[in-house]
Amino acid sequence: MVDRKPLIAGNWKMNFNHLEAISFVQKLAWTLRDAKHDGSTVEVAVFPPYTDIRSVQTIVQADSLDLEYGAQDLSVHDSGAFTGEISGAFIKTLDAKYVLIGHSERRQYHAETDEVVAEKITAALRNKLVPVVCVGETLEDLEQHGPSAVAASQLKVALGALKADDDFVIAYEPVWAIGTGKAASETDAQNVAKVLRETIKDALGAEAAEKTRVLYGGSVKANNIAAYMRQPDIDGALVGGASLVLDEFASIIQYQKHIGV
Ligand code: 13P
Repeated sequence: MVDRKPLIAGNWKMNFNHLEAISFVQKLAWTLRDAKHDGSTVEVAVFPPYTDIRSVQTIVQADSLDLEYGAQDLSVHDSGAFTGEISGAFIKTLDAKYVLIGHSERRQYHAETDEVVAEKITAALRNKLVPVVCVGETLEDLEQHGPSAVAASQLKVALGALKADDDFVIAYEPVWAIGTGKAASETDAQNVAKVLRETIKDALGAEAAEKTRVLYGGSVKANNIAAYMRQPDIDGALVGGASLVLDEFASIIQYQKHIGV
């Protein structure tokens, strides 16, 4: 069996300016150091607003922090007359590793279709960024189609832009669980994660399915992370609100200390 390194990712959304970002990242590093957290067993990444990324880069590199970072979106284009867009090439120049693609807030408020998501995946790969592709159903979808159908169909289109040897991450985020405090049960999240892994297997083969990390997102907190991390097909979490609260996020990162609870 392939060893998938767990990934705890914080999506800051439109929170923290660059000064707040510097302060948060520094304090997070100190907190984890004081707690003697072993960074080799879990990867941690933050997704700040674009205007913070350069500051996060500076602090991560100056202090050699064990912290990855990425952008929350990118343009399908690499340069040109696209006012307000941000190129994957620029994000890569800031030594970012990841980029979120197809977050439900982008799909909902910016009308991003599965086809746009696929184009953005291509743009990410072209610029050597690892796409973290978000999929998940709304409450309406859940009532009409059950928990995994919409996520799997979104994923199928996304997989059309990916090859078996590409490095990518899938985040299953049921829309009804985002920011609501109503997290999916660990059993439901596991069942969907398993379907998503099978969907990867059908499209790209067993090896790709085995090595690809599938995250759960939606009201993840310090008091429920361990339940998700015990599931065989869940390899980490994409955390929103709780990633902005220092002690809460630090505790989520250290889930291994409370996994037996
Ligand atoms: P919350 O953790 O605030 O529910 O947000 C989840 C999310 O959207 C992460 O991308």
